[in-house]
Amino acid sequence: MTATAPHYEPGSQEHLLDPLAAAAGSHADTPVFFSEAMNAYVVVGYDAARAALKDFASYSSRAFKGLPVREGLRDRIPAEWERVAQLVQGAQLNNTDPPTHTTQRRAIQRAFTRKQVEDAKPHIERIANELIDGFEADGSCDLMQDFASQLTVRVVGSMLALPEQMIPGFLAWIGDVFAVLAPIDLDAEDVTVPDDQLVATFERLHAAHLTYVELLEERRANPGDDLASAMLALTDDDGAPLMATEDVLAHMLGLTAAGTDTTAALITNMVRYFTADPEQLRLVLDDPGLWDNAIQEGLRRASVALHGMRIATETTVLAGCEIPQGSAVYVALGAANADPSVFRDPLRFDIRRENAKEHLGLGIGRHKCLGAPLVPPEVRLALEVLYQRLPGLKADLDQELRFAPSPVVRVAQSQRVSW
Ligand code: HEM
Repeated sequence: MTATAPHYEPGSQEHLLDPLAAAAGSHADTPVFFSEAMNAYVVVGYDAARAALKDFASYSSRAFKGLPVREGLRDRIPAEWERVAQLVQGAQLNNTDPPTHTTQRRAIQRAFTRKQVEDAKPHIERIANELIDGFEADGSCDLMQDFASQLTVRVVGSMLALPEQMIPGFLAWIGDVFAVLAPIDLDAEDVTVPDDQLVATFERLHAAHLTYVELLEERRANPGDDLASAMLALTDDDGAPLMATEDVLAHMLGLTAAGTDTTAALITNMVRYFTADPEQLRLVLDDPGLWDNAIQEGLRRASVALHGMRIATETTVLAGCEIPQGSAVYVALGAANADPSVFRDPLRFDIRRENAKEHLGLGIGRHKCLGAPLVPPEVRLALEVLYQRLPGLKADLDQELRFAPSPVVRVAQSQRVSW
């Protein structure tokens, strides 16, 4: 049975502003439906979303690849450039399935330890204070540009021991990697990027790749106590390196891409919620024991990660809806986080919500956010330092927010605040 599709337009301003409100009313009747506009199945019901995220055999995470190169461009885009573009997409955890995912994820988790997170805490506090020093006297700033995105990039950068002067280039490289990101089933003939632009992007991407591989080869020879060194140092039972240098690079990219804008957006969203409901802020400032639950509720209410993207590997039936093999499946995390059968009064931001931590904002199962142990301390420290240093901090709730185009996350590029 195919259910009648409700209105679901994730690229619309209404949806980006509040994906939970946009999904209201669809959970009970159409937990899973086909969207003609998206040419994909959308999973909005909480139970169905959990089931899809846990069933990696029926729903593959291999949803993306590097842009395919058509025959006519072969002489301008060498096979090696194309290999590198495919590798950086294909080796990232969120784009792999078992058994590759299992071995790579297990290996990264051996390197991304509790100690790495503990060691990051003093850096988070120091960087937050340094950034605030720069604008404290101004009485207002752009919280996203001047604080949150700089903080989160520098935190991941310091965990990876990426030299500060290399960070802008590294971010530009990530931009190029996203520019050659394509749905897994895209044909080379259907690529619409102009040829010259495509050639230039592949060339930059390849050149930067070589620079970073060189950096990591040096690091392999002279390791530090950072996360990249820890990944490079992993060995199998026979003492052979567990991760190729290029895989470590792909994971550095994945951690930076997945862990910076998302965390920054959570920080700015929480300042918005606290501005809209100052009583919630007073509660957590009076009782810091509430921070953990407040951040879980922030993850639920903000749902910065909009979708888990999957491809059906076989024809399945999910919550009564048949999903044919090969279909694109959008697991709508924000919509699931507003399912009223699980979260009472789901649009309310309530830091004392008893089941806040049941949210799907960080995913669930094998692909659950690798940064999950880092997000709460990072966001808590950022907010504690902000409210300590800038009492009276308020977000401009009337600002018209603009979102970076993405089917996966919703990140407003600016958030004005004053104090
Ligand atoms: C508020 C901040 C964050 C949010 C909302 C978020 C959300 C998510 C979600 C929903 C997934 C699962 C996607 C899926 O199942 O398809 C995920 C995966 C991932 N996240 Fe995060 N994330 C955040 C912060 C971070 C941080 C700080 C890092 C690392 C420094 C990170 C690294 C990753 C990685 C590497 C994956 C892929 C894991 C895998 O596929 O095994 N994330 N994240």
